[in-house]
Amino acid sequence: MLKLENKVAVVTGGGSGIGRAIAVLFAENGAHVHILDLNVGGAQAVVDEIAAAGYRASKHEVNVIDQADVVRVVKGIGRVDILVNNAGVAHVGDLEHCAVEDFERVFNVNVKGAYNALYAVIPQMKAFGGGAILNLASIAAVVGIADRFAYSMSKGAIYAMSMSIARDYIKDNIRSNSISPARVHTPFVDGFISKNYPDNEQEMFEKLSQSQPIGRMATPQEIAKLALFLCSDDAGFITGNDYPIDGGFIKLNN
Ligand SMILES: NC(=O)c1ccc[n+]([C@@H]2O[C@H](COP(=O)([O-])OP(=O)(O)OC[C@H]3O[C@@H](n4cnc5c(N)ncnc54)[C@H](O)[C@@H]3O)[C@@H](O)[C@H]2O)c1
Repeated sequence: MLKLENKVAVVTGGGSGIGRAIAVLFAENGAHVHILDLNVGGAQAVVDEIAAAGYRASKHEVNVIDQADVVRVVKGIGRVDILVNNAGVAHVGDLEHCAVEDFERVFNVNVKGAYNALYAVIPQMKAFGGGAILNLASIAAVVGIADRFAYSMSKGAIYAMSMSIARDYIKDNIRSNSISPARVHTPFVDGFISKNYPDNEQEMFEKLSQSQPIGRMATPQEIAKLALFLCSDDAGFITGNDYPIDGGFIKLNN
């Protein structure tokens, strides 16, 4: 049975990694998926993959930092039933290795970008009778991963933003939840390993895999399955929560 039949879903950062897997699975379940991404080539490749399989998707070249542009694009889409706030960037470094430019870049994409998408989508959801919101937090939101000062800060903000939306818009039939993955094997992870550990990439990959007690990273498809459940009507009683999907990272590491 299709879980998102005739739903309209907006997925930010749907041109790569977790967002890509979410876009594909949502489309396979009957949603018309709108990908908002800076990376227009990546977004087009996902749209093509979805269309080739006989499902529906569209891409919109958007920088989520730009509120006016996000609002314009979302207005053009019209009814939005589901928003997945997924676009995000990383930064490696503790406080003393986090320049103000690093802090602002991470804040602008991860926090302000999510706020902008919510700002654009909430009025549409209210106008059309409700919806489901899913925000990509991270285990970093609650445990503060080592050497990820700005990133952890941004995911803590996502966690709180998600709860605030859940509380304020429950009366409008809008559900809001977040998910907190541990390490997921995506270009995001490969990118920061090659950038920050060019001399020992394989060793670092192994180390990051073993940091989940389960002994590996998640796949993007595993994250997409949880996202599908939380955005579907099967999760109609679930709002104002965060769901770790972490191979035991938070509770079994000590
Ligand atoms: N990969 C992990 O281990 C992991 C773990 C926990 C949480 N997350 C979160 O999941 C989300 C997706 O991560 P991923 O690993 O799939 O990353 P990714 O780098 O593979 O994909 C991110 C996508 O976001 C897009 N994007 C970046 N900045 C943007 C902007 N300003 N405007 C529009 N689009 C923009 C990129 O173009 C890309 O398509 C992020 O929010 C990340 O923090 C990832």
